[in-house]
Amino acid sequence: MTNNITNECYIDPSLDLEDEINRLKKDMNAVILAHYYQDPEIQDIADFVGDSLDLSRKAAATDADVIVFCGVRFMADVAKILSPQKKVLLPDMAAGCSLEDACKPEEFVKFKAQYPDHIVLTYVNSSIKVKALTDIIVTSTNAEKIIRQIPQDQPIIFAPDKYLGEYLARKTGRDMVLWDGTCIVHENFSEKEVIKLKTNHTGAKIIAHPECPEHLLGYADHIGSTSSLLNYVEKNDGGEFIILTESHIIHQMRKLAPNSIFHNVEGMEEGACSICNDCPYMKLNTLEKLYLCIKNGAPEITINEDLRLKAKRPLEKMLEMS
Ligand code: 13P
Ligand code: SF4
Repeated sequence: MTNNITNECYIDPSLDLEDEINRLKKDMNAVILAHYYQDPEIQDIADFVGDSLDLSRKAAATDADVIVFCGVRFMADVAKILSPQKKVLLPDMAAGCSLEDACKPEEFVKFKAQYPDHIVLTYVNSSIKVKALTDIIVTSTNAEKIIRQIPQDQPIIFAPDKYLGEYLARKTGRDMVLWDGTCIVHENFSEKEVIKLKTNHTGAKIIAHPECPEHLLGYADHIGSTSSLLNYVEKNDGGEFIILTESHIIHQMRKLAPNSIFHNVEGMEEGACSICNDCPYMKLNTLEKLYLCIKNGAPEITINEDLRLKAKRPLEKMLEMS
């Protein structure tokens, strides 16, 4: 072994990684949960692939001893918050989220203080500390349903995704105070490219995640969470689709709608990958890191118990209201 390769990160090149992952997983009674934005090889080895809401429900319900979370940090945090007695592993601890980064808890405390009579709704794409300052967590699947259960005269703060907040305000007619955060992937799709694709494929349906800005959502035939976009293509198999969300979801779309044609939209020059629009954080998890993480039992998510209990309350409220 060369000097800069430690035991913890050495991988025997003769190993079949899929076989090894499956073997180790059985030995330690682990379950692999993966988000739709993960690499196809990770999605295919996972026991369950889902959107943020499905994954949080699975994490709360599993009887496995170990949850190996192939997604980003806030998703693994939710698993640990809801299942504290389980070991929760994340293949790369640097797998963050631009929305989480855009909402620092110290600033959020000051922001909240300006609106003392507002109820605080926070998108699940946020840190544990921000969750602990929240009344109800939402995901893109349940946000509209939850907002509709809040009395009309109750003012609302929505954080940290301003585009999702604007979309929900338009849909529900609620005038919400919004935090100014964005997803670097969804805000970065090229409008020029969308127009070009639609011009060249006039029959194609444009489907978009609500993290996209309004000027892009305006072109969409269907707007929804990752699971909602998947349901839409499955119901309309045989069609042609222009996809305004992270490109790895197309792997599941091809499985659910094998007779369809999918067009990925490129990004602009800044922010996320300009050619592919992959999420740079989701991409940090690889099959190799997944193997190492199961083998080493690390990196492991740990959360201070007091903070966990504070963040658990708004998450449980979300599950109740979904
Ligand atoms: P979903 O909850 O729709 O899966 O979205 C998660 C996410 O990070 C979108 O960028
Ligand atoms: Fe965060 Fe955007 Fe990546 Fe989703 S796609 S994890 S919102 S940076």
